[in-house]
Amino acid sequence: MANVPVILIHGFPLDKRMWADVSHSLRLKTYAFDLPGAGRSHRDESPDDHSIAAYARSMMGVFAWLSAKQAVFCGLSMGGYVVFEILRQFPDRVRAAILCNTKATPDTPEAKSARNALAARVQGEGTSALVDEMINRLVARVTRERRPEIVRAVTQVISQQNVPGMVGALRALRDRADSTPLLGQIRVPVLVIAGDDDQVTPAEGMREMARAIPDAEFVLIPEAGHLSPIEQPNAVSAAINDFLARL
Ligand code: MLT
Repeated sequence: MANVPVILIHGFPLDKRMWADVSHSLRLKTYAFDLPGAGRSHRDESPDDHSIAAYARSMMGVFAWLSAKQAVFCGLSMGGYVVFEILRQFPDRVRAAILCNTKATPDTPEAKSARNALAARVQGEGTSALVDEMINRLVARVTRERRPEIVRAVTQVISQQNVPGMVGALRALRDRADSTPLLGQIRVPVLVIAGDDDQVTPAEGMREMARAIPDAEFVLIPEAGHLSPIEQPNAVSAAINDFLARL
């Protein structure tokens, strides 16, 4: 296992900085990359170039650069959708998977309309629309009440994203595949990490998702919302290290 890297894939509307605290504490060599259009990987691509499949190809591109045969792929929310796509397209490359605060189901028609409305708002108003609509749903109530510095840091990262990248990501999220048929076919060990106050991907749904995967463990992180690696990095790192130690 010592030569197997861990690749950390961030959620929306964030970038690789969301993994900073966890990545320093993991027992294996760990890499976090920005998905195309997020953080520093923004180029002048069109929003039409974005899809979860394109994000998975981009992660496999960086993986190739590491010259490893396999990796542990760990994704939060949108990053989890990318891990599902990697499991579908490149299963031989996956030693194990970690699914944080994510779900296998696709967007409902209502959720797709909400993505379109948010994309239009972001195009008109910039990334402040993302902060406005999302920040309270991203972090747990207890985080909002007791640790305003986390809310400020997340707000800053969201504000620093670029508009075409975020509009493209909203389209990729809207059009993502249904991964529920994949769950029973996953042949590698999986760790599912949920936050007890996650409003975007509630813990109960994640527990059910874990039950549908043949070899999955479920860990519930207390006092965490949708951004458990930022809100509770010690508990998340401990859960991941424990899982890695048993591979
Ligand atoms: C994320 O955290 O990546 C997004 O909230 C995912 C989503 O909206 O489906």
